[in-house]
Amino acid sequence: MKSFQTERWPVDKTENTLENHPHIIQASLWINKNEVIAIPTETVYGLAGNARSDDAIKRIFEAKGRPSDNPLIVHISDLSQLEGLVSSVSETAQKLMNTFWPGPLTIVLPKGENVSERVTAGLSTVAVRMPDHEIALAVIAASGVPLAAPSANLSGKPSPTSAQHVYEDLKGRIPGIVDGGSTGVGVESTVVECTGDLVTILRPGGITLEELEKIAGAGRVVVDPGLENEKQAPKSPGMKYTHYAPDAPFVLVDGSVEFLQRLVDKEREAGKRIGILTTEERVHVYKADCVIPAGNRSNPETVAQHLYQALRAFNESGVDQIFGEVFPKTGVGVAIMNRLEKSAGGNIIKE
Ligand code: TXA
Ligand code: MG
Repeated sequence: MKSFQTERWPVDKTENTLENHPHIIQASLWINKNEVIAIPTETVYGLAGNARSDDAIKRIFEAKGRPSDNPLIVHISDLSQLEGLVSSVSETAQKLMNTFWPGPLTIVLPKGENVSERVTAGLSTVAVRMPDHEIALAVIAASGVPLAAPSANLSGKPSPTSAQHVYEDLKGRIPGIVDGGSTGVGVESTVVECTGDLVTILRPGGITLEELEKIAGAGRVVVDPGLENEKQAPKSPGMKYTHYAPDAPFVLVDGSVEFLQRLVDKEREAGKRIGILTTEERVHVYKADCVIPAGNRSNPETVAQHLYQALRAFNESGVDQIFGEVFPKTGVGVAIMNRLEKSAGGNIIKE
């Protein structure tokens, strides 16, 4: 793997004519040389490369240390880029695009002839989305090619929601990071498979089941059984890997504040340094060595937004063990709990 002096390329997304911005042009020049760079999207930062180039895709997998059987999402800025990328679009898939694009919805479709085999990890389908972020759209448009982009973290780490997070993980491994500030949604896009008129959620994310049902019709949206049932392989290869893990062991606690505090007290009496992942409402309720809030419990969107930043923050605190609260599995809470369960490697203590 080549080594680079990783540069930061700040861009203010409210500026006009972003496509002519020197840092956007710089990013697109690297893309056109089949190198990979990081870009902001509305969900998390992505590690972007030319989706038509085997070299670029190889570099993405190398820079992240990603297992090669885990396919990538292809990002487009214009519907005309679907040409050659996918071989067909069902009526329901079209409706989903019309409603949710640009936005945090990735649609898995039959693959076309003009996409690197490495992108799809040999599958007959390709995952596509149009991000709702001016800078991401400008980089794609300036490059003139669809961009394959996984989250710009080292494989297994929490996804990056700021340029600083990307820098921590990938410095020296990529030429640059387009810095557009913090991302908005905070958790990755919802990945759906859409063959015929049935929509299957392969990864919960920014767009909820309820929102999808409004467009696809009642009873037409199902969740991949492999997400909940350990005996069944998930349909999305990425969902089988450990993910989003902080450095210290992390356990979820499904119980009262008092129950969680008792668990913490016991460990601290044994001499361990303990962290707690909670929300703003309860920061001052707990006693521990490091208490970190992720947003407000009363507004789950803010929890999604701050979740990865909070998980990363524990790494600087030097705690030996982290306990985390659980959230109701409704709306964006489904995505939050999916990420927390992965992050905790499925470890959950019930009161
Ligand atoms: O919000 C997002 O989706 C971010 C930003 C950068 O766009 N990207 C992202 O990419 O989360 P990544 O690579 O971290 O996750 C892609 C997920 C993986 O779980 C992968 O297995 C799944 O999408 N995937 C990709 N292609 C697929 C396919 N053809 N069939 C099923 N799952 C697929
Ligand atoms: Mg990822």
